[in-house]
Amino acid sequence: MTELCPIYLDHAATSWPKPQPVLDAVVSALTECGGNPGRGVHALGLAASRLIFEARGDVAAFLGVPDARDLAFLSGCTEGTNIMLKGLLKPGDRVAVSSMEHNAVARPLHVLAMNGLEVDVIEADETGFIDPDRAEAVVRAKPTRAVICLHASNVTGTIQPIGDLADIAHAAGALMLVDGAQGGGHLPVDVASLAVDAYAVSGHKGLLGPQGVGGLYLAPSLQPEELLQGGTGGGSSELPTQPEMRPDRYEAGTPNTPGIAGLGAAVRFLAEDGRAERQRAEEAALVGRLAEGLAELPGIRVLGPAPHAPRVPVVSVVHDRVPADRIAFTLDKRYGIAVRAGLHCAPWAHRALGTLGTGAVRFSVGFGDTADDIEAAIDAMRAIVKEGA
Ligand code: ALA
Repeated sequence: MTELCPIYLDHAATSWPKPQPVLDAVVSALTECGGNPGRGVHALGLAASRLIFEARGDVAAFLGVPDARDLAFLSGCTEGTNIMLKGLLKPGDRVAVSSMEHNAVARPLHVLAMNGLEVDVIEADETGFIDPDRAEAVVRAKPTRAVICLHASNVTGTIQPIGDLADIAHAAGALMLVDGAQGGGHLPVDVASLAVDAYAVSGHKGLLGPQGVGGLYLAPSLQPEELLQGGTGGGSSELPTQPEMRPDRYEAGTPNTPGIAGLGAAVRFLAEDGRAERQRAEEAALVGRLAEGLAELPGIRVLGPAPHAPRVPVVSVVHDRVPADRIAFTLDKRYGIAVRAGLHCAPWAHRALGTLGTGAVRFSVGFGDTADDIEAAIDAMRAIVKEGA
């Protein structure tokens, strides 16, 4: 790819490279639609408004959101998880949350727990999977306001049974809230058929958009409090309070128009000619081969599902002697292979997997990766574990 990084296997952190139409859309937003959307009736402002309107419709369609107004564009998935948790949960409420959560959920919950939220954890099995029976037992133990589970683990790639968990939540009168950071793009997401109440998504990972943009789907019946108050354009400037109208309520301040333009172009690119389905099939083949090749190396433990079992394209490993950060450093410096080592902002997941003390080396596959890249990564790992560095 570039001299700096011939092989990029860090797509779970952010996908790279971006498809050309995404780059073109970002540049075009800045050069041709440079007004502030919703804030002026001049041509450049209207062009920016139109761009966002179209992007919202396209991203909503890609995620199965029936009414695009129920999809807010935010700075990223983390803003979405913060709105759905802090905007909906009150002191005295009780939630049941998976043990595999990323800090985008764990940290807001920590703040809420300090203020009286009761947080009970649904423990994952050894593959990082949240078994619905186990979840049901936790949910039914006490009145529950919400069940919270990520769609797929950023550490193991484990895909969670969100539809089943939503059924369990609703049967108990609880909401189903989902961190979809690793879901969008890598999994076919249809929020309507999953019947979730809120789904936060990252724009810059599997959806292939730029960094700094993401989305939050909220079921029409929900009205979480907004995190931020400020200007929303439109016709509501005279109000002292944030308008309740969606998506304006959650979009205070000037939006990231270039980022939204890039995200819109990214989902159009993925939706074209079944490209998303082909990309998912390629990712599944590549990550399956990668997990299989890594599992055969001496001293390596592969976390999560068995090599060819379903997962999003993420596989993490621990070596019994060589530290994870040393492996990642050597992969980068000697082989030009980009991976991520450590706790991946997911100490809960590492605690659940027994790797809180060591961390792990994470390989995450995506757009642009080839079978040769995967073989090169396996060969590099073979050499590293043989040398012990
Ligand atoms: N949450 C992202 C990751 O898993 C940044 O690396």
